[in-house]
Amino acid sequence: MDSRLLVGATVNDQMDEESMSKLFAHEGIQRFQEIMMMYRCAIKEVQTKLENLNDEMSTKRQRNPINSIKSRIKTPRSIYEKINRKGMDMNMDTLLNDMHDIAGIRVVCSFIDDIYAIANMLTLQDDITLIKMKDYIKTPKENGYRSLHLVVEVPVFLSDRKQIMKVEVQIRTIAMDFWASLEHQIHYKKMDNAPITIIDDLKKCADNIYETDIEMQSIRKRLLGN
Ligand code: GTP
Ligand code: MG
Repeated sequence: MDSRLLVGATVNDQMDEESMSKLFAHEGIQRFQEIMMMYRCAIKEVQTKLENLNDEMSTKRQRNPINSIKSRIKTPRSIYEKINRKGMDMNMDTLLNDMHDIAGIRVVCSFIDDIYAIANMLTLQDDITLIKMKDYIKTPKENGYRSLHLVVEVPVFLSDRKQIMKVEVQIRTIAMDFWASLEHQIHYKKMDNAPITIIDDLKKCADNIYETDIEMQSIRKRLLGN
């Protein structure tokens, strides 16, 4: 996730005038603000669901499966750049229907099995529809990146209607998150052609971290019996 932290931020906080004027050349700014408001509401809906699951599981099992939850809305500039990069149409339908990551939530879990437990419990809820799942834990990316990515749809209840919104949920362990944040620096620092040794070393770290995740989970099971 590349954009600013969000929940609670107003649309104006996230505005970038140049990107905005390009995005709204043909449609009203008010409609854009309405769409962003609906994405903020969607994030709150899904975040509350995750917090409730964590609460319930910590009561039942005496431990928290979720370590932290962060959320963000993509900035107008980042939305604009992605639409251009992917050759999508620059209009409001694209924002609502074709982009899956305007609303993003990152869930950091303690253990690998917590990731799948949380994903299952969330997607089984009857107002949640799973649109897409990419399991980069079972099939890591070539660079070693691991995470479970979901795109879900959730209803947002407005004054006069119900709007279905998409939210991208990334679920990973603390260790996977620790790795991803360093790896992200490579892109952040525009080191796309980083020396091969750095890429190799990072990949090795990712694999070691995964081994450690597996071992920690096994220790937990031996210690706590679940
Ligand atoms: P995008 O159009 O870029 O969103 O691609 P996609 O729809 O194929 O998404 P994918 O599920 O592969 O990745 C989406 C998000 O996951 C990114 O915006 C990052 O937040 C995260 N991500 C994916 N791959 C990597 C990676 O190699 N390293 C790190 N640090 N994060 C990644
Ligand atoms: Mg993305």
